[in-house]
Amino acid sequence: MTFRITYSVLDADMTALHAQFDEALAAVRRGLGGVFPSWIGGKAFESGDLLESRNPARPGELLARFHRTPVGEVDRVMRVAREAQRGWGATPWQERARILRKAADLISERRLSLSAIMALEVGKNRLESLGDVEESADLLRYYAGQLEEAQGFVKPLARLSPNEDTRSVLRPYGVFVVIAPFNFPLALAAGMSAGALLGGNAVVLKPSEEAPWCAEGLFHALRDAGLPDGVFQVVHGEGETLGAALVAHPGVDGVAFTGSKSVGYAIHGQLNATRIRPCFLELGGKNPAIVCKDADLEAAIEGCFRSAFGLSGQKCSALSRVYVHESLKQAFLAGLSEKARSARVGDPTEVPTFVGPVIQPASVARFEHAAAEARRDGVVHAGGERLRLAGALSDGYFVAPTVVEIAHGHRLMREELFLPFVGVTGFGALEEALTLANDCAYGLTAGIFSRKDADVAFFLEHAEAGVLYANRRTGATTGAWPGVQAFSGWKGSGSTGKGGCGPYYVAQFMREQSQTRM
Ligand code: SER
Repeated sequence: MTFRITYSVLDADMTALHAQFDEALAAVRRGLGGVFPSWIGGKAFESGDLLESRNPARPGELLARFHRTPVGEVDRVMRVAREAQRGWGATPWQERARILRKAADLISERRLSLSAIMALEVGKNRLESLGDVEESADLLRYYAGQLEEAQGFVKPLARLSPNEDTRSVLRPYGVFVVIAPFNFPLALAAGMSAGALLGGNAVVLKPSEEAPWCAEGLFHALRDAGLPDGVFQVVHGEGETLGAALVAHPGVDGVAFTGSKSVGYAIHGQLNATRIRPCFLELGGKNPAIVCKDADLEAAIEGCFRSAFGLSGQKCSALSRVYVHESLKQAFLAGLSEKARSARVGDPTEVPTFVGPVIQPASVARFEHAAAEARRDGVVHAGGERLRLAGALSDGYFVAPTVVEIAHGHRLMREELFLPFVGVTGFGALEEALTLANDCAYGLTAGIFSRKDADVAFFLEHAEAGVLYANRRTGATTGAWPGVQAFSGWKGSGSTGKGGCGPYYVAQFMREQSQTRM
């Protein structure tokens, strides 16, 4: 399948793009304070119980409020989904693909306002917000292309006798619950939902309670593209209550979840306790990079900087461990620390900002705890403190990009922190570095920097992670894009080994049926 990437930032006139972003941001700001419903059966549902969305850079700023869906409504939501799925599952695959492609075009058209909302709601900087929105549109197109390329996943099989025809047909499961995280609030909600929808399933989306506004945009794009009522519903509420009630409902045929390892494992256990059901989990990471003695040091520092501190380290793909050859360790630490100290931390809607706030006060508390441990057990080379910025940002959830030298066995090198916090330690031989990199419960992404082909080949052969990068200055462990990298977690990072953005994604949302006719 040929697939053309549409990330406009790659070839945009940046001055014009920023001017358009400013205009969209001003329009979004004029509309702050709105109240939005949950969407059940194509109708706005208002419970009167409101969830608040606030700006993590300026927590005093109320962005919007959302009607929670009470747990008591879950049964109705599931019945509506079941009913709507009958028609959608019987809709020709060409039509399903057409609607999803149309929704992708609408997301592309609306990309500036959607990314302005995202920058405000999640604290993601401008270009990364635009990237998230455009990635959403590309995911829809890429997955629609999978359905088209496979001609709806209907495949003639061999004949046992001349008067019989057999074919393999992939059929929908029924109703999928999709639970999305805050950090890629559009791309992950859109990607997981699109996989299920293209497969002919109905979807009940519970967006992150930290990023409910972004899901509004997805709902409207799908509805305006012609998706029938009830096929895609959006319910707002907290994971512990509403998310748990959705997963526990007997009418669920499958779950797609992106979030923490502990919650993902709990969902998997619960879903499969009574009957076997598909459960696609994209979980966390503790992603390593190896910097060999033959590395281009400047490229390694740049790639590690971007992956450790982009989106304040709140990516499952974020870099959080670096194993650097002893001969380069001091120079690497000095270079990375210098970049960390000079990174612009601030309002994510402003052009020069690279690092925005973390999402909530609990993240700041986790940061302060980790920083105290690092001071006690390691050497803090950069950062290590909460930042109190001036003026309107003074209450924002800002923390300093942090570089710590610490031993491999330490908790800070094992547990996912989801913060702009990277641990660095030295190694002697590449085999040793690989052993340390692989000595981890997670296996999502990993990177290497070396000018020696043999080192890179050894790494590609032995690294235990689903997504590998070599010598990537633009991101040591981050930056997967639909149709380019398949994003599949190994070990504790995922359940399927065939992840989002990859060529096998849509087929997972369908079950195979063999049909023989005489
Ligand atoms: N696509 C993002 C990255 O690779 C994470 O989901 O960084």
